[in-house]
Amino acid sequence: SDSLRLHNLCLCLAVAALCLMVASATAEKKLSKHAATLADNSANLAFNLYQNMAKEKNLENILISPVVVASSLGLVALGGKSSTASQVKEVLSASKVQDEHLHAGLAELLTEVSNSTARNVTWKISNRLYGPSSVTFADDFVKNSKKHYKVEHSKINFRDKRSAINSINEWASKSTDGKLPEITKDMEKTDGAMIFNAMFFKTHWDEKFHHKMVDNRGFMVSRSFTVSVPMMHRTGLYKFHEDTENKLFVLEMPLAHKMSSMVFIMPYHLEPLERLEKLLTRKQVDAWLSKLEEKAVAVSLPKVSLEVSHNLQKHLGQLGLTEAVDKNKADLSNISGKKDLYLSNVFHASALEWDIEGNPFDASIFGTEKLQNPKLFYADHPFIFMVKDNKTKSILFIGRLVRPKGDKMRDEL
Ligand SMILES: *[C@@H]1O[C@H](CO)[C@@H](O)[C@H](O)[C@H]1NC(C)=O
Ligand SMILES: *[C@@H]1O[C@H](CO)[C@@H](O)[C@H](O)[C@H]1NC(C)=O
Ligand SMILES: *[C@@H]1O[C@H](CO)[C@@H](O)[C@H](O)[C@H]1NC(C)=O
Ligand SMILES: *[C@@H]1O[C@H](CO)[C@@H](O)[C@H](O)[C@H]1NC(C)=O
Repeated sequence: SDSLRLHNLCLCLAVAALCLMVASATAEKKLSKHAATLADNSANLAFNLYQNMAKEKNLENILISPVVVASSLGLVALGGKSSTASQVKEVLSASKVQDEHLHAGLAELLTEVSNSTARNVTWKISNRLYGPSSVTFADDFVKNSKKHYKVEHSKINFRDKRSAINSINEWASKSTDGKLPEITKDMEKTDGAMIFNAMFFKTHWDEKFHHKMVDNRGFMVSRSFTVSVPMMHRTGLYKFHEDTENKLFVLEMPLAHKMSSMVFIMPYHLEPLERLEKLLTRKQVDAWLSKLEEKAVAVSLPKVSLEVSHNLQKHLGQLGLTEAVDKNKADLSNISGKKDLYLSNVFHASALEWDIEGNPFDASIFGTEKLQNPKLFYADHPFIFMVKDNKTKSILFIGRLVRPKGDKMRDEL
């Protein structure tokens, strides 16, 4: 029986070794060529869309997920025909990509970057396509859009607008565990197909903040308006760059498993972000990132949750999606089999939570030379940020924090 036990042990080891091989093979699995192209294109879309939105007056915080926007565009391509469909590909700079590769590539990209287990971040994404009650969704469309874009389909009657909007908000709240209680108060165009994205993203830092290193501080929204926010502090070794010519700091903080990272771009002092936004091109960001160097940095960040909902319909129209959003021109007949729909709304709503949690840090470097004379990164005024993916090089989020939630502080002299 000893030999039997030994035999079993060997078998177990062999199985374990096999499992390890399979696991590492999956971990190192490369992105397909089409998914890699689309990842790259979605990074261009990130900057185009951000720039387009930044022109909007009275818009404060911005929070968009370019890869999720790309995936919603894929859904429009799936439902579109002729030039309505080909315009989508132009917006994605993917005119040469075949339909099947477009859909499979976008699906692969989103599955890869939203894998919470592999990346140790929480990223819940829910997508829903609403159509007017008169519409009949074609079976093929339902099947393929579920498969590639994980979208639910629903008909909605807007005769009672209040209750229609309430039911949309209830769906968003439920699918984000209550993080997005309201994604819209009202809606102008209620007669078309509507895409809704509801997301919740929570960072898990590669090195966590200490729970005791949190206190209330002022965040200056403008010269005359300061709000009180909890601020978390830690000193560590981070990739950092100070652009003295443009008077700004760039800081990169890895998220757990180092498969993605949060990049902050912040002016030295309080100022409207317009100046930085004029510099914000993909080329410039790549140039900044290439200059990052590991330094001791004393980081202070607002410990807040940013909840933003944008209607992207108009912005996508301005980026070239002119037909799908036009009632008279749209051909979305692959959705219903009839030319009876246009894209009347694209609601893109996300909650992003900055918290202290993360992997345990190596405390042995505290008090050593390595952390002496740290650079200061004190985020008490508006900044731009991105969540960059390390593997696909796509941008998971891009945005700006201008006004965090918090009570107004008494004016100080
Ligand atoms: C639209 O549907 C038809 C018929 O189901 C299909 O052959 C065609 O490929 C679809 N077009 C697109 C752009 O998906
Ligand atoms: C997510 O990643 C884990 C660990 O790398 C892997 O086992 C799993 O299959 C992935 N899930 C998907 C849906 O790809
Ligand atoms: C991230 O990893 C930590 C342990 O290091 C674990 O407690 C946590 O649940 C993980 N989070 C996710 C979203 O996987
Ligand atoms: C990106 O991944 C590489 C390889 O795993 C790692 O060495 C590097 O630190 C990562 N970068 C960031 C910013 O997390």
